[in-house]
Amino acid sequence: MEYELKSARYLARETLARAVTPGSIVVDATMGNGHDTLFLSEMVGKGGKVYAFDIQPEALDSTERLLKEYGIRDRAELILAGHERMAEYVKEPARAIVFNLGWLPGGDHSVTTRWETTRTAVESALSLLQPMGVLIICVYPGHPEGSVEREQLTKMLSGLSNREYNVLHERFLNATEGAPECFTIQKQRNAR
Ligand SMILES: C[S@@+](CC[C@H](N)C(=O)[O-])C[C@H]1O[C@@H](n2cnc3c(N)ncnc32)[C@H](O)[C@@H]1O
Repeated sequence: MEYELKSARYLARETLARAVTPGSIVVDATMGNGHDTLFLSEMVGKGGKVYAFDIQPEALDSTERLLKEYGIRDRAELILAGHERMAEYVKEPARAIVFNLGWLPGGDHSVTTRWETTRTAVESALSLLQPMGVLIICVYPGHPEGSVEREQLTKMLSGLSNREYNVLHERFLNATEGAPECFTIQKQRNAR
């Protein structure tokens, strides 16, 4: 397939395709319509597992349908709970954790991720990551909550020790205002 420098989310998928291997344990922190859960379920294969979170029952319904359509429903645990409760549900180190912040496409825009809960969830995700595991967070700064999330994430992630994590911030410099941006964080091999 031809390489195309397309969008921050496209680049995030490329990273996931490299980082996630068959048998991996991974987390989709924002299930939505299930596209990322499906992609991750395909990557982890039969021996792996995807923990997927959302607070909207519609998200679980769409994701369940999608996974069934592809015959891989058994690879994911669909959890109707906020990602801020991740540590209660995920008790094993994760190879990859993905956040695609914002609201459900085609859904209620008032049900969006918010910094108070995103912060707790990102803290849990950082500690759940296994060494060399990756955390990818895509943020949409074109709406007020997304703008706060981008600003606060930049502050929080810039402060992480470079002996424990490598942190990359990707954005298209000539994109339209509010275009998605992604943070990719890898836990170092020797991190605690
Ligand atoms: C941009 S969508 C995710 C898209 C999804 N990854 C996909 O591939 O279709 C963001 C989702 O985050 C969900 N959300 C909002 N607050 C949440 C929270 N505290 N915990 C988990 N999910 C949340 C929304 O309900 C929405 O479905």
